[in-house]
Amino acid sequence: MLRTELGDLDEQIASTERALNDARAQRDRELLADQIEALAATIERAVPGFGGGAPAAMSGSTQMDSAVQGTNLRNASGFRALHWRPYFENTKNGVILVDIDSRALHYWSEDQSIYRLYPTSVPATDDLTRKGRTAVVRQTNALSFNQNVHLHGGVVPAASDGHPMQLIAPGGSFMYRYPNEQDAATLWYHDHAHGLSARTMFYGLAGMYIVEDELEDALDLPTGDFDVPIIVQDRAFNADGTLRYTDNIDEGFLGDTIVVNGSVSPRFAVRRALYRLRFLNASNAREYSLALSNGAPLVQIGGDGGLLEAPVSRSTISLAPAERVDVLVDFSRVAAGTQVQLTNGLGSGSTAAVMRFDVTGSRTTSGRVPTKLRPREEIPAPVRTRRWDLMFSTSGAPRWEMSGLGFEMDRIDARPALGTTERWQFVNRSHRKHPMHLHGVHFRVTERSSGVVPPGERAWKDTVMVDLDETVIVQPRFAPYPGRYVFHCHNLEHQEHAMMLQMEIA
Ligand code: C2O
Ligand code: CU
Ligand code: CU
Repeated sequence: MLRTELGDLDEQIASTERALNDARAQRDRELLADQIEALAATIERAVPGFGGGAPAAMSGSTQMDSAVQGTNLRNASGFRALHWRPYFENTKNGVILVDIDSRALHYWSEDQSIYRLYPTSVPATDDLTRKGRTAVVRQTNALSFNQNVHLHGGVVPAASDGHPMQLIAPGGSFMYRYPNEQDAATLWYHDHAHGLSARTMFYGLAGMYIVEDELEDALDLPTGDFDVPIIVQDRAFNADGTLRYTDNIDEGFLGDTIVVNGSVSPRFAVRRALYRLRFLNASNAREYSLALSNGAPLVQIGGDGGLLEAPVSRSTISLAPAERVDVLVDFSRVAAGTQVQLTNGLGSGSTAAVMRFDVTGSRTTSGRVPTKLRPREEIPAPVRTRRWDLMFSTSGAPRWEMSGLGFEMDRIDARPALGTTERWQFVNRSHRKHPMHLHGVHFRVTERSSGVVPPGERAWKDTVMVDLDETVIVQPRFAPYPGRYVFHCHNLEHQEHAMMLQMEIA
């Protein structure tokens, strides 16, 4: 493919995108108020029949068995197998065109349609979301209320970021352009419609998006069946098996049942080999501390924004909402027939176990643990400091604030200069922890008032937990795209109760 033709195509896409954006953003803003009103009822109606059918059968080679262990389950007919399905339909001239629609609130309905319609993963074996190759995703909204798609951790033009006020109306569609110019990383995407996103996350509008690149290819890491996305969430159910959401502005939504890739307490048959497990915490508000019951180390190789400089061996890994960690786990030295639990040290009762690995077969070589990963990039020194005090306000209607501010569409709260870095201080002056997240850019965690920044947090990140009484300093790099992006707490009930501001990078 000639570069000039590629360039033309890119330009056509960009201008279509801009036109669509302007028209829709305007119309959708007007529709928004009504939509929010109607939301709760609509969502409840959109999830009929949950828990109706028999458990789905396993199929394919990287499927997680949906069978169940333990007694923490509300509804045995709700179990679902993992289902990974490629969603790319069309690749042409180096541009990937993806068509998705979103009857996705059928989360856990009869046919696991979420994985197809609002896909929950890009299989790592799919050679498609590679660095340097643009993906164009056309998202069609088949729901009855506004939605959009935000690529979390994606370094994408503002027009394709899925700003909370830039929405796709019911029946409409929108083309997002993902340049994939960033390094290999485990990204994810979710609905970000203002006022709705805590609920839509709970009902299943989320998925993983994996970017690969050549540096990573050369490392001989486990791939294919040995590279497994693990999306951890918590849920609550009514007695009839339907999902039960409660809006808790203080703690955020906390469910009593853990699900992995949509399955309650799944077990996963692993070979005696090295595995790459990509963990994503896609819970609304719950934090996890992951460990293996056989005491085996979790060898962390990456975080939100991609690979670390070198692997870090850890016995436990905490995972705040929206964070990702990539780890290597060596099952090759575990005897066949062994069951290894993945536990959550922050849970109790039904939230203490996450899933189980059943070790089978003979030893297989699937890759190795590299000694070096990605060299650390040099970045310019910060040009200024901004401070954000994280607070709960009860002076009016109770809400969460940053330095006395809550989300306002018509106000810009920070104007960083394109290409610079800054020092952002998140000062926790509240009684809850806050996983703070910036759109559009990555940052380094440079200081934690509670102690040193752990080695697992030293690669590029986009979400960082700010503990009680803690001040965390991060250094975002505002590049390469100008434009308006939000930053917010990723406890989604906090976010929806105003803990979100806007920056304009220029
Ligand atoms: Cu997961 Cu505003 O982001
Ligand atoms: Cu994001
Ligand atoms: Cu918060």
